[in-house]
Amino acid sequence: MRIDIISVVPELLESPLNHSIMKRAQTKGILEVKVHHLRQWAVNEYGQVDDYQYGGGAGMVMMCEPLAKAIEQLKAERPYEQVIYMTPDGERFSQKIANRLSLMGNLIIICGHYKGIDQRIRDHFVTMEISIGDYVLSGGELAAAVVVDAVGRLLPGVLNDETSALTDSFQDNLLASPVYTRPADFRGWKVPEILLSGDLKKVDEWRYEQAVQRTEQKRPDLLDS
Ligand code: ADE
Repeated sequence: MRIDIISVVPELLESPLNHSIMKRAQTKGILEVKVHHLRQWAVNEYGQVDDYQYGGGAGMVMMCEPLAKAIEQLKAERPYEQVIYMTPDGERFSQKIANRLSLMGNLIIICGHYKGIDQRIRDHFVTMEISIGDYVLSGGELAAAVVVDAVGRLLPGVLNDETSALTDSFQDNLLASPVYTRPADFRGWKVPEILLSGDLKKVDEWRYEQAVQRTEQKRPDLLDS
């Protein structure tokens, strides 16, 4: 999978995408992430990519031309399934959307800044708008990193244990069950006996019950859906 990210602060994406599992995904050649500085498509030699908004009001708006040129240049190089705009008024990101995106080949992600991007880019180029939650970040970069991470770890071969993404929270509308590691007794706090029993069927049943219980307690809304 290839993801092209268009940003005015590409530095914000460096660390989250170049460590741990995202780094491994790229080193293995399973995921390719390219971050493009929008200023290379600026409208003048001062690197201008934003301007005052029509109708007045505080805050700058990201201009059409640099974004249109960036998207068109990328699209001339390869086909893209989605042009995604990260914005607090987009569709709420979820495991379901991550699953869907992980099946795609090439994606463009646009990170907004200031007051956002000119509506005409949203109308004519953007095919999907994603919010990572009901709060406003100072730019779309951290939100884009969240999406790339959640999608990237689902790509076959990225996680060492292929099944481990399947038992994640949310994968089947249930939160994950509790996990334990050695020692079996820490300060008198014991690991549930069943996990030490070696009876895999019983362990599976226990985990399922725990997941249901935990979901009922913490996120009953998941069970309603
Ligand atoms: N840009 C600013 N806030 C955002 C959010 N909550 N989700 C996605 N992109 C954003």
